[in-house]
Amino acid sequence: MEQSVKPASSFPLNPHVAALPPYNAGMNIAMARALSGRHDIARLASNENPDGCSPAVTAALASSSFEPWRYADPACTALRTALGDRLTVDPNLIVVGNGSEEMIAAISRAVLVPGASVVTTVPSFGLHEIEPLAAGADVVKIAMTLEMGFDVAGLETAIAAGPRVVFISSPWNPVGPGLDRSSLRRLIGAVRPGTLLVLDEAYFEFADPGAPDGIEVLRDSSIDHVVLRTFSKAYGLAGLRAGYAVCSGLELARVIAAAKTPFNVNAAAQTAAIAALADEGWMKASVGRIRGERARVAAALAGLGFLVAPSQTNFLFFEGKGDSSSLAAGLLEQGIIVKAWREAGYERFLRVTIGSPADNDRLITALQGLARQ
Ligand SMILES: Cc1ncc(COP(=O)(O)O)c(C=O)c1O
Repeated sequence: MEQSVKPASSFPLNPHVAALPPYNAGMNIAMARALSGRHDIARLASNENPDGCSPAVTAALASSSFEPWRYADPACTALRTALGDRLTVDPNLIVVGNGSEEMIAAISRAVLVPGASVVTTVPSFGLHEIEPLAAGADVVKIAMTLEMGFDVAGLETAIAAGPRVVFISSPWNPVGPGLDRSSLRRLIGAVRPGTLLVLDEAYFEFADPGAPDGIEVLRDSSIDHVVLRTFSKAYGLAGLRAGYAVCSGLELARVIAAAKTPFNVNAAAQTAAIAALADEGWMKASVGRIRGERARVAAALAGLGFLVAPSQTNFLFFEGKGDSSSLAAGLLEQGIIVKAWREAGYERFLRVTIGSPADNDRLITALQGLARQ
């Protein structure tokens, strides 16, 4: 039946939410199949783990102690206790989210009011801008340097101006580098009372040995802060949704928890995250494989003449030779999904996830072919 198109509603929506830019969630496999006419899709746009997840996760979900008909613990007590032990953090300082993205939303809701100011980077992880905008905040973005690194001096100045919240991902999505210890200390030193530093460490596990651990470095500081981590990347649980916030104080943790929905983390996600956390060996082996592949793919891209950012993550960010959407379209024709970056000023860049060795080979071969055209 044909549906009639309704005229735009005059209903008074929240103007901050109504004006939000869309989140670029990337292309799904069904869409890529339809567009490319190919079945064998290499999805290299969402920073998922090509190794899947620990077999301990599937075993835990199949066990009789997993009871999907019961409401899950709204406080995620068992998971927070396990995380507290692993991280040597008081579990009462941890809030678990339906993915760490929910914690970005909860922090914005808990801390920001219309007109508040927020500092982040550009290019950026979309939600570091979208969630503050939804709360009516103004967002100031500090651009990456020409060397594709953090503009530490620019960030220091912007932070010292006293925004209410600073969102920084380190290692940095979408660019790749992580803040070194002295840069992180400089940024912490710039934070004044009244500013909350949110250090988003979604890619923490992929960083080089010796890279700063934000939880440890910030523990020694007196600033208000939150460190975000996730089970979506190194632990391979993107589809289940579990991430968490480690907060600097009990009142901050209480209010962030109050800003989420009560039963936000479902039973499967809690069961899976506990099992994944207990199998650290699987995660470390997977991260080791991904790091090795990252070096191989980065060398291949550089060999083709692309400018590739240094990466401490499970993806690479590189500058194409024109608008990146045409290169992404050429790859899609061959069944490979990558992310052509669309933020203003960065339209020449692409972000590509490190996939399985076979998918990475496909990417390299396809780029070799396209580079010759
Ligand atoms: C920097 C950063 N933060 C947070 C997230 C959200 O991850 P999740 O909600 O899956 O935990 C992502 C996902 O890509 C990310 O790149």
